[in-house]
Amino acid sequence: MRAHKIKRIGILTGGGDCPGLNAVIRAVAKTAMNDHGMEVVGILDSYWGLLCENFKVLHNHDVSGILHVGGTILGTSRVDPFRELYEHGKAKSPTEDWNIVKRILRKHGIDALVAVGGDGTLRVAARASRAGIPIVGVPKTIDNDINETDLTFGFNSAVSLIMNALDILHTTAMSHHRVMVVEVMGRTVGWLALQAGVAGGGDVILIPEIPYREEVVFERVIQRNQRGKRFSIIVVAEGARPRGGETVYSGIADESGRKVLGGVGKQLSERIEKATSLETRVTVLGHLQRGGPPTAFDRVLATQFGHAAIGLLVSGQFGNMVALKGNAIRPVPLERATRKTKFVPLNHPLIAAARSVGTAFGDE
Ligand code: F6P
Repeated sequence: MRAHKIKRIGILTGGGDCPGLNAVIRAVAKTAMNDHGMEVVGILDSYWGLLCENFKVLHNHDVSGILHVGGTILGTSRVDPFRELYEHGKAKSPTEDWNIVKRILRKHGIDALVAVGGDGTLRVAARASRAGIPIVGVPKTIDNDINETDLTFGFNSAVSLIMNALDILHTTAMSHHRVMVVEVMGRTVGWLALQAGVAGGGDVILIPEIPYREEVVFERVIQRNQRGKRFSIIVVAEGARPRGGETVYSGIADESGRKVLGGVGKQLSERIEKATSLETRVTVLGHLQRGGPPTAFDRVLATQFGHAAIGLLVSGQFGNMVALKGNAIRPVPLERATRKTKFVPLNHPLIAAARSVGTAFGDE
């Protein structure tokens, strides 16, 4: 597809929602309409909406006043659209057939797509691109686990919310001389727990990348108590696990069939209370971390990402994702960005800084 032929684009948001999605939709739509005279079609509920032709043409007034609003005006979903089509008896096989999508795009005069999402959504975008569909990606997730970008939008807002929660929990922990275990999201990576834990002054931060020893955690809260610090705040990532132990799942699966993490906080708090006899409570922040208005940082990043995504489309740089590298927004191939998960490196300077100010990671 030659770049100057793009007259009409489609945009979809997929995966778990996060603050800043509407800011990206606004930036994509306004840049496309105002700078390039394009028409913008909102695809509802991600790839499933694409296959169902569930579209809504977006006008300036649709994307006005949404910069600060959480969630996504387009809706989202995590279902495998091709499997769903098969299960509805509308396809002969559950395997991906991008010709169906090409036919739909042709029928609606959509020349190119912008896919805003996390690892799952971006991996599908990479496959769509390989199949010849002009598509670019925008990385979102509170987990910050997308490779090849320093940050995803949504992450900063979630960090900020967790930090505020830790500030609040500190005062009640101090009053009651309790151990407070705070479970945060992040799936298999510890970025949220690490950054928010440092920002909120967590005494112990447990992340999936550093399997912890329970006795070390017990010892830490007892020591604090003996030193006159009669409360402790423990920030535990939902994907953290004890050395030699198992990751804890909530027992439910999301619509894509993926097991939902959760429960490590409760398990840990019961063990702390039993081992130390210190009164212990658990708070699971859950979906509070995903809703609500984006921070200033995320509004700015989302606006830059959305604007840059249209830049990639008009210059014909399909198959790329916009990424933050230092202070610059750059394209990176979707294939490379989705090849592996971005874990917290064990030599990350924030871990060293946290240890220096007395934060424990449960390993030593
Ligand atoms: O990937 C984003 C995320 O919020 C994870 O941190 C969390 O494990 C998961 O989604 C929760 O998913 P659900 O929307 O199914 O509750």
